[in-house]
Amino acid sequence: MNKPLAAITGVYGYVPEYRLTNAELEKMVDTSDEWIMTRTGIKERRIFKGEGLATSDMVVEAVKGLLEKTGNKATDIDMLLVATTTPDMPFPATANIACDKLGCNHILSFDISAACSGFLYALTTGAKFIETGMYKKVVIVGADKMSSIINYTDRTTCVIFGDGAGAVLLEASTDSNGIIDSVLKSDGSGRHYLHQKAGGSLKPASAETVAANEHTVYQEGKTVFKFAVKNMADVAEDIMKRNNLKSEDIAWLVPHQANLRIIDATAERMGLPKDKVMINIEKFGNTTAGTLPLCLWEWEPKLKKGDNVVLAAFGGGFTWGATLIKWAY
Ligand code: UT7
Repeated sequence: MNKPLAAITGVYGYVPEYRLTNAELEKMVDTSDEWIMTRTGIKERRIFKGEGLATSDMVVEAVKGLLEKTGNKATDIDMLLVATTTPDMPFPATANIACDKLGCNHILSFDISAACSGFLYALTTGAKFIETGMYKKVVIVGADKMSSIINYTDRTTCVIFGDGAGAVLLEASTDSNGIIDSVLKSDGSGRHYLHQKAGGSLKPASAETVAANEHTVYQEGKTVFKFAVKNMADVAEDIMKRNNLKSEDIAWLVPHQANLRIIDATAERMGLPKDKVMINIEKFGNTTAGTLPLCLWEWEPKLKKGDNVVLAAFGGGFTWGATLIKWAY
């Protein structure tokens, strides 16, 4: 018997209520709505505010919604993976903490660190546990509270990022629809251009690192942009070729929402018109691991069984990748 494919059988998203608009950013740093819109396509981003609230709380919101929608209880989950760059704390894993808050301790749960490509890494990893028959219900979450690592006096990064979480349920497919293929890559030499300088074993937290603002995102935007445009388009084209798909065979591109210009370049390389591309960067900005599941959540009503959906991402590491899904419902 052929091994079953893993299929996404439900999607849910959570974005915080607070909207940080370009108008508000204009009062915080030397920027303008015009610059932000033309360079990135972002109008506003959500910020998770509140004492004692962390990434795991957004994970819990997304997973609770997912469970309710799909008619499952927390104790039905066999495994929870959280892709995040902003864990509640360096250890334990945010997935462990979320399981405790959800009431599903004693299952396999861990975090995946692959920045903006984290959701694709986690989705592909989780799918293997379904394909092998080891588990029946696997929940994959992409969640980031980017506001916790942003320097709101640095105009080159603070206008880009936002907070949010998206979750999907994976189960064995009952037909030929499901997660078909993934191409996942990394290149650690890219670390020089996008990283957080302090707070790890290389440079533990100290009064000096705090004073120097080294616990926030450092990005050489132009360089990252060049790599992102090339690699995201390359990998999207690669997955089409590997699966003998032409532009007209693709129903949807789900691109990482880092910059509208990177999204446009990827769609162009794939030969896709704009109306086949999921774009919500204007509303949510770059939520790092959250962007892809948040798109799926918003577009779910438009997806049809059997649709060829290509997800593509690029981010810190560098990491990048693409996944082909035949939508299962
Ligand atoms: O998701 C993870 C991966 N990350 C990415 O994919 C991000 C990739 N990079 C980008 O999206 C873009 O590089 C940015 C949006 C970060 C920057 O856009 P850019 O078109 O590459 O701008 P730039 O860095 O070349 O800066 C152009 C000018 C500079 O001024 P000068 O040197 O020409 O006088 C910047 O100082 O724009 C200035 N600038 C700003 N001006 C107004 C930079 N940030 C701002 C700002 N408002 N917020």
